[in-house]
Amino acid sequence: ISYIMKRQDIKDLLESKEFDQPVHTKGWIRGERGNAYVRFLGLNDGSSIQNIQVVADAEKFDENLRKRFNVGAAVSVTGTLVESKGKGQSVEIVADQIEILGDADAEQYPIQPKAHSMEFLRENAHLRSRTTTFGAIFRLRHALSFAIHNYFNERRFYYWHSPILTASDAEGAGESFRVTNFDIDNFDSIPKIAEGENKGKIDNTEDFFGQPTNLTVSGQLEAELGALALGRVYTFGPTFRAENSNTARHLAEFWMVEPEMAFYDLEDNMNLVEDFLKYLIKYALDNYRKDIEFLDAKFVKENSQKKKEERAEMGLIEKLEFVLANDFKRITYTEAIDVLLKSKHYKKGKFQYDVKWGVDLQSEHERFLVEKHFKTPVILYNYPKDIKAFYMRQNDGEEAGKETVAAMDVLFPGIGEIVGGSQREERLDRLQARTDEMGITEELWWYLDTRKFGTVEHSGFGLGFERLILFITGMGNIRDVIPFPRTPKNADF
Ligand code: 4AD
Ligand code: MG
Repeated sequence: ISYIMKRQDIKDLLESKEFDQPVHTKGWIRGERGNAYVRFLGLNDGSSIQNIQVVADAEKFDENLRKRFNVGAAVSVTGTLVESKGKGQSVEIVADQIEILGDADAEQYPIQPKAHSMEFLRENAHLRSRTTTFGAIFRLRHALSFAIHNYFNERRFYYWHSPILTASDAEGAGESFRVTNFDIDNFDSIPKIAEGENKGKIDNTEDFFGQPTNLTVSGQLEAELGALALGRVYTFGPTFRAENSNTARHLAEFWMVEPEMAFYDLEDNMNLVEDFLKYLIKYALDNYRKDIEFLDAKFVKENSQKKKEERAEMGLIEKLEFVLANDFKRITYTEAIDVLLKSKHYKKGKFQYDVKWGVDLQSEHERFLVEKHFKTPVILYNYPKDIKAFYMRQNDGEEAGKETVAAMDVLFPGIGEIVGGSQREERLDRLQARTDEMGITEELWWYLDTRKFGTVEHSGFGLGFERLILFITGMGNIRDVIPFPRTPKNADF
């Protein structure tokens, strides 16, 4: 009968109430147990965190076939859907036919149904998505991508495709990857500098068909062009940073969401980011609760093994619901420095890095504010001009040496900075004074043009997508929330 029956996703079978009907499905064996008379297979096809139980009576399946019921093997199953007597499951399939589609040798298959270390699973990134944990994470990653598009579409923001290849370094931080079309194995073909002290060295200005080009660090500058034409836009795509930092919060390739809005000031921007983050968290809780519940149990268990002072005070779902229920704390950079300087933590000399007005906050400072002091997400705004990007709007009427810009960072518990954004400098004279200082006026002529023709106040921000997933899944390392993490020396597949 199998060839005339439609294959059903396991999620639909698990939710079906049509018992005693013939059904057909395919999937991978996640668990296998039983005795000489009956084998129980836990089958999963990725559609649900839950396996469906397949009951295989020994008398229907000969021993040679039964020996191939190994964890990791792909099978096709035809049988009858029945109400299950077992605990924690509503239905099961009593199998009539089981066909092995692809064997998995029990001796060799690395992903066995036991607790594997995250490190081990990272080394097996080609197979780790077959575990319950990674299935849950990557379903949530999908869900949140979808929710991002939903959110913006419902509010008339247009999805705007910024380029991956670009000559501009949007953040001015010099952390970009160069792109070249030259044959690096043929050194002679690569253009060299003709004279001067660097004579004979590779001429990078020729890299991309005669132009220096890199992988984008941010789509923001191009998003501004979109906002100043279409009103409200957002980008959502991969961005690249050549920072050689091996931390649990940084990737060389990460996805960023960058909305940009004409006629928005900094306060509008803060209102939007808070509403947006809460919408995404609520969407995940409402639609993918089973996955989050599984991760919550894991989170609570791992957490309980930590030293007391490192332990989170709440479970995962509790933490997400807390964020939804409370306003983010909004304070200026200057106020934050004050809080830090007055803290017992500071007085006891517990910060590794110095705190004083004008320095960039380190993650230890950010986490102190969020986790120890305010105990809620924080939006820090009005940062010193000198530590922020050239495009941020300068605040007026400030004393010399204490100038600030209308920047904002959103800080989350357990994560630190999750969003960075600002109101943009829309005044041509102010902006050009900054680009002149940095020597980038000429290359940014197209950007400066928007301030010459119909300039208006506008704002935007960038959400680090993986940092959001870290927060919602409760995972501890950014390498575990993207299918194929790119970090130094890690780009095999
Ligand atoms: O603060 P950043 O550098 O801001 C920008 O790129 C602006 N152009 C955004 C804008 O205003 N449109 O980066 C924004 C966010 C950070 O808050 C962080 O969440 C994330 O991107 N991020 C990273 N995530 C993973 N790995 C890295 N190496 C990251 N660098 C930044
Ligand atoms: Mg930042």
